[in-house]
Amino acid sequence: MKTNISLAALILTAGVLSMQPAPAQSNASLHEQTKQNLSTAMHGEAFAYAKYMAYAEQARKSGDTALANLLEKTAKTERLEHFAEEARLAGLVGSNAANLKDAIKGESYETETMYREFAEQAEQAGDHAAAQRFEEIRKDEAKHRDAFTAALNKLEKKNQGDQ
Ligand SMILES: [Fe+2]
Ligand SMILES: [Fe+2]
Repeated sequence: MKTNISLAALILTAGVLSMQPAPAQSNASLHEQTKQNLSTAMHGEAFAYAKYMAYAEQARKSGDTALANLLEKTAKTERLEHFAEEARLAGLVGSNAANLKDAIKGESYETETMYREFAEQAEQAGDHAAAQRFEEIRKDEAKHRDAFTAALNKLEKKNQGDQ
């Protein structure tokens, strides 16, 4: 049952990743198609990382240590090499303030739009457990949004003080 829950969480993660608005930061010198492809590739690499880590957990629980190690090693390559290199090319990571603004945008979208709609749709479809979970996750995302907003305010205050 626990495995099913973590798999469900992963599927949710994929949904979030694929439906979030594009990051605020991007490398303006790249062709539009290349930018889109980098974004798609980063989503794929991030999901592969999360998925292989979950598969590794299952392999370790079943006693297959060699398979668990292979999955974890591959997951790390997806995250630390493939995703990281694509992020560098795409100019994904900006200043702390720009990163926080982008993160707030994503968490706000999940809180106010995505999970609200997902919960409503699941409820209407009779998938009550999923609806409840979407609503609980939505509340977590609101906390993330608020924590990031507080961090951004603190950062901006500090920057004003430095000037
Ligand atoms: Fe990869
Ligand atoms: Fe979040």
